Amino acid sequence: MKTIKTILNLSFFLFTLALFTSCDSDSSSSSGEVPETSLKRGINIGNALEAPKEGDWGVVIQESYFSTIKAGGFDFVRLPINWHSHSLESSPYTIDESYFRRIDQMLSWANKYGLSIIIDVHHFDDMIYYPYETLPRFQAIWRQIAQRYAGQPYSVYFEILNEPNANLTSDVWNDIYPQVLSTIRESNPDRWVIIDGPFWSNWQTLNELRLPANDPRIIASFHYYNPMEFTHQGVEWDNQYNQYIGMTWTGTEAQKKDVENSFNHVANWAKENNIPILLGEFGTYYKAPMSSRVKWTQFVRQKAEENNFSWAVWDFNAGFPIYNNSAQQWYPELLDALIK
Ligand code: BGC
Repeated sequence: MKTIKTILNLSFFLFTLALFTSCDSDSSSSSGEVPETSLKRGINIGNALEAPKEGDWGVVIQESYFSTIKAGGFDFVRLPINWHSHSLESSPYTIDESYFRRIDQMLSWANKYGLSIIIDVHHFDDMIYYPYETLPRFQAIWRQIAQRYAGQPYSVYFEILNEPNANLTSDVWNDIYPQVLSTIRESNPDRWVIIDGPFWSNWQTLNELRLPANDPRIIASFHYYNPMEFTHQGVEWDNQYNQYIGMTWTGTEAQKKDVENSFNHVANWAKENNIPILLGEFGTYYKAPMSSRVKWTQFVRQKAEENNFSWAVWDFNAGFPIYNNSAQQWYPELLDALIK
């Protein structure tokens, strides 16, 4: 009898505890506190899978990238992906099985090394220039991705689209992304889904994103490359930045205020809307002076953390590198700026 009573008491205790804990986490999302995700410090493996064919832009991903990234102190990877070059252009828009297997491998490497991973849709220009015409294809691509990865752990995150811009204006994006989100939710009711703000995920326009009313597993994302003249100095794909080669960022009061004001603006909006924030890209081109790259990276990272933004630096070993391919090691000052 005593044993039964003890068991009953114990179950009651556990039941109350469970109730208490669940109320607790529920209340945190309705009281203005921003919910936690497992994303903290991440790195973009750029110029690899978002190229038309992996390797076209110089990066073919190796298993060792994941172990190196983990050992470097990061806890997640953001993986930009080009799906449109690997799927049929007309209905049923089937994604190549061999390409899917390559992405499966990325998820399994991330899992093996204890890294969370974000998979996105990157450089899908038809979606940017002809949003409504392309929507059926976009939906079909996401339906396939979502169904294939429905059984993956919550450490796999979906990001609907990198940097909406051009004809994918705020209004159009606010109309379109919820339709894609519904498609994802058919097979992944609880997975965290990341939504980029309109106009290139700019910090200034993040507040134009209209958030869904009843979806607690949403993260809003913005990118930060200010000042562009400094971070993009000498990029080959945009001549206007050639004239800035050699420009420094030394962390003057005005330069710091600029970062702080932008991040405060985002943080206030996040609090009002009770939404976690991902700073999904920030970085400096390799041509910028190293000491300035280090100062800017350190300061932006620090401000992101002070505001509780998860962050992913752009990029691992391509144009804005933190890892030095030829020396086969991190740029130590840049790694310190991010992780120390
Ligand atoms: C683009 C890259 C570019 C980077 C910095 C990313 O969103 O996909 O191609 O290098 O931004 O401009």
